[in-house]
Formats: sequence, C-alpha cells, structure tokens
Amino acid sequence: MKRVLSGIQPSGKLTLGNYIGALKNFVTLQHDHVCNFMVVDLHAITVPQNPADLREQSESVAALFVAAGIDPAKANVYMQSHVRQHAQLGWMLTTLTSMGELERMTQFKDKSAGKESVGAGLFVYPALMAADILIYNADLVPVGEDQKQHLELTRDLAGRFNSRYGDYFKMPEPYIPKVGARIMSLDDASKKMSKSNPNPGSRIALLDSPDEIRKKISRATTDSGREVKFDPANKPEVSNLITIYSQCSGLSVAEVEARYDGQMYGPFKKDLAEVVVSQLEPLQQRYHDIRESGEIRSILRQGAEKASEMAEKTLTDVQQLMGFLPY
Ligand code: TYM
Repeated sequence: MKRVLSGIQPSGKLTLGNYIGALKNFVTLQHDHVCNFMVVDLHAITVPQNPADLREQSESVAALFVAAGIDPAKANVYMQSHVRQHAQLGWMLTTLTSMGELERMTQFKDKSAGKESVGAGLFVYPALMAADILIYNADLVPVGEDQKQHLELTRDLAGRFNSRYGDYFKMPEPYIPKVGARIMSLDDASKKMSKSNPNPGSRIALLDSPDEIRKKISRATTDSGREVKFDPANKPEVSNLITIYSQCSGLSVAEVEARYDGQMYGPFKKDLAEVVVSQLEPLQQRYHDIRESGEIRSILRQGAEKASEMAEKTLTDVQQLMGFLPY
C-alpha cells in the first residue's frame, strides 16, 4: 500500500479552506493507503505562540481530524513534536538546503514581508517539512495549492540526498484536488482563505456557529453583476462561492451553475449558507463529543508510537548513509 503523509498547523482555528483543500482528502485516502496525519506544532512555533493557546489549539486540531472522519484505527493521528525523529531529520536536511532555495519560497516571502525581525525557524521551515514527508518515505502528500512549492523543494532535497549518499528516498507526489485547492477569502478573492487573517469575516472556521456562517456568507463580497457563473478570471468572488458550494454539496461546478441559472446572488448565497451549515453541523457535534470524552490524548499517544517506529527506521538508515558513528 502507498504511504500518505500530511500535516496541519495548530496556529489558529481551522478554516473551510483547510477542510476542502486538505482534511477532506485525508479522510478519502485513509481507506486504501498507510496514512500518517499530524498536527505540526514544531512548524507553528516558527511564529510567536502563546503557550496556553498552542496547547488548546493542538488538541482542538487533533480532535477536528477525528471529527472530520479520520479513523484512528486506519490512520495514525499524532503531534509532530511527539515523534522526535522529525526534528532530527529536519536538521540533516537543512544542511542540504541552500539559502537561495529558502529565499525563493513564497510562503516565507509572504510571512516575512514588512517584518523588522524574522526568525530563522521561519526561514528553514521547508527543510523540516521535507523531513516530515521523507521520514516516512511518503508516496503521496495531500495538500492545497499553496504547499506545492514546498513539495517541489522536498523532491529536490530527496534527489540531492540520493545522489550524494545513495538511492534511498522515493519522490513524493503532491495530491492536490482539482477543485478547491485554493479557497479564497470571503472579503477579498485575491487572497487565500487563511486561519491567520486578522479579519474573522474573511473565513469560515470549522467551528463557527450556523448563525456566524450565515452572516459571513451573506456579507461575502460579490461583483456587481447578477449571474451565478463560474469564471475565476472575471468573477473571482462568485467563482469561489460556487467552488465552496460544489465541495460542500457534492454537486459538480456545472451542476451548481445549472441550479442557479437565471437566479440572482441573494438566493444562491442563502442556499450556500445552508449547504455549508449542513456539512459542518455533524462534524461539530462529533468534535464536541470527542473533546468531552477526553479520548484524544490516547489517540495521539498511540498514533505517535506507531509513527515513531517507521520514523526511527528511516533515521537510522539515513544516519548510516551519511556516515554517523552508530550508537
Ligand atoms: P497549513 O496549516 O497552512 O494548512 C493546512 C493544509 O490546508 C491547506 N490550505 C488550503 N487549501 C485550500 N484553500 C485554502 N485557502 C487553504 N489554506 C490552507 C494547505 O495547503 C495545507 O495542505 N506547511 C504546511 C503544514 C505542513 C505539512 C507538512 C503539509 C507541515 N509539514 C508535511 C504536508 C506535509 C502548512 O503550513 O499548512
């Protein structure tokens, strides 16, 4: 069976973008792949975090994984920091990475833009992400569009390692959905929907109440036209809403267009809100049950134990290939 690895940062409240671009696909892939899904806390600390918030967010994101449908009996769900081999391999891969490669990363450019002081962790972030993937020799990495460049760097690092130390790593492939790989902000369709945007109205959080969801969708920016038509170049806002509708209803983009043919934005947005609410309500119910049960800690412990076994094997091989003296 092919191996799958992915991660989500506990750096804010997960959004519908995270769900459509990544989490939903984690759930699909778990049935016929060996899956590791982590909450990447080591990546979250590349920007300042309040310790109490980080702890709460970490547990919350892990619970959302399970609430979204990841079955811990099928897929390992765990904290990145609980599998210490990630950080170790991350350091080794950092030594194979050039400053120029890291400077070209658009996520780094975006996150460091205008900052007086930028942490070195934010800069070397992609080498740790490469380690996350390569430590399991993953075949497939389900991510949204914004992570594609990091995946390309991962492949470059795998190739560099193989040519220096011997053919060891497989070339991981990104698994990027055809529709929904880049869900845009509700207030500005030129920016991706993000958990760190200061305006909560720009995103739908997975734990937003039905009324919050209705309010946010009714206020979502649209153009001054009337047609509910998928045309990302000329109608980016409406196209984004159609994408969300399609992903939450299971209808194709063409079916959504056909359903609202001749109708205006008002009824479309009203229905969209109900489609999103009915997608998220069962997930929220499961989320609250899981948090109340307190079972998430033992799920994370078991996930980390199983993932550590795979990771330790790779680390030992890599140490040997690189010339480290055995313990
Ligand atoms: P993060 O935490 O920013 O986002 C988690 C996942 O959600 C996807 N995503 C989106 N997809 C569609 N539309 C959006 N608006 C949107 N916003 C976010 C992201 O592409 C991602 O798949 N570096 C990663 C975390 C990471 C990782 C890894 C991922 C660390 N190690 C190893 C894969 C494999 C990140 O910051 O994701």
